[in-house]
Amino acid sequence: MLHENTLPSPHIVIGNHSLGSLSEFIEFSSFSKIILLCDEHTCEQCLPVLLHHVPALENTEILEIESGEENKTIHSCINLWEMLCKKETDRHSLLINLGGGVICDLGGFIASTYKRGISFINIPTTLLAQCDAAIGGKTGIDFANLKNSIGTFSQPLATYIFPGFIRTQSKKQLLSGYAEIIKHALIADKNLWEKIKKCTLSDLNEIEKILPASIQIKLQIIHSDPLEKNERKLLNFGHTIGHAIESLSLEWGLLSVLHGEAVAMGIICESFLSYKSGRLPHQELDEICNFIFSLYKPIEINDNYYSRLIEIMRNDKKNRNGYIYFTLLNTIGDGIVDVQVAEEMIAQALHFYSSKSALQKFS
Ligand SMILES: NC(=O)c1ccc[n+]([C@@H]2O[C@H](COP(=O)([O-])OP(=O)(O)OC[C@H]3O[C@@H](n4cnc5c(N)ncnc54)[C@H](O)[C@@H]3O)[C@@H](O)[C@H]2O)c1
Ligand SMILES: [Zn+2]
Repeated sequence: MLHENTLPSPHIVIGNHSLGSLSEFIEFSSFSKIILLCDEHTCEQCLPVLLHHVPALENTEILEIESGEENKTIHSCINLWEMLCKKETDRHSLLINLGGGVICDLGGFIASTYKRGISFINIPTTLLAQCDAAIGGKTGIDFANLKNSIGTFSQPLATYIFPGFIRTQSKKQLLSGYAEIIKHALIADKNLWEKIKKCTLSDLNEIEKILPASIQIKLQIIHSDPLEKNERKLLNFGHTIGHAIESLSLEWGLLSVLHGEAVAMGIICESFLSYKSGRLPHQELDEICNFIFSLYKPIEINDNYYSRLIEIMRNDKKNRNGYIYFTLLNTIGDGIVDVQVAEEMIAQALHFYSSKSALQKFS
């Protein structure tokens, strides 16, 4: 059984030299087999770059799945486990996940369960995966329309973050990842928040500069609480409502809401809850709302869906005894975990978001 602080520390290499480090690691490694998992986009955009830097992977077997959240399912797992069996993959094999959060979550889950766990490495290729999904040791899939409802805590052997990969991402995807960087600043680092406010998203060099500070925040938090007993819950800021929005969009069969877009909406709602519970000053709530609405298109939520959203939140695996708990902000740069919030207040937060979104349309 795992106890607090028993997960091994993650080995993370960030920067343009990261793939060179991976190359050295692979050359001196002695895995019985190496398998690469990617989707059609990362196979086309990122695999050639990877092979250029890590020639030892040239003849590696490749498993390709179809991209998208809709494939982060048990069906994909079954297919992949079957393929691993067919290829006679043994326990001394290595799985390399080359992709965004979907590939890292799914690949990590497959590796951590196949034959009771084989080694895996993450090479995140989206901003979201680089600053968040590929680090921290959470793996998983969506199940019964609930996001990440099946999964494991399992650390990759290492994570290699090559910032150049994000250059082929779409603006929409990039913004989705940016929401996690915004979240990291809001829960833990006011200086990073000031930098983010000045950052021009069209200049990828600027994003690459703030990426290490954002990763550092996540690393510090998970180091102190790897199994999410306490401080790690800070990382859930924006996610209680964000995940409910994502789950609702899975239910509707609409996949147009990206993880980070839902989190951006969650950040506004949960900042409102922070203000209403007497923590966040009103002027900081305004600052956060204005900044998020300057970047993200509002998500339209009809008030008929409020009760369903709240029901989904009640079902969230992080809740206890039927109460809904949130991570909120005391102030920008200082988050607080485990705040119990009344359901009518959550409805008010959703209403606040909707009325702010309506104003955006006319501004
Ligand atoms: N495990 C965690 O701690 C954690 C944290 C945050 C998010 N997540 C999960 O991450 C997932 C979202 O991750 P995501 O936003 O990276 O989505 P994603 O993996 O679906 O990638 C988004 C799209 O970009 C494509 N893509 C990936 N890299 C590319 C590149 N370099 N150039 C061009 N296209 C590229 C993908 O093929 C896909 O179509 C969600 O499932 C979420 O639950 C997990
Ligand atoms: Zn997230």
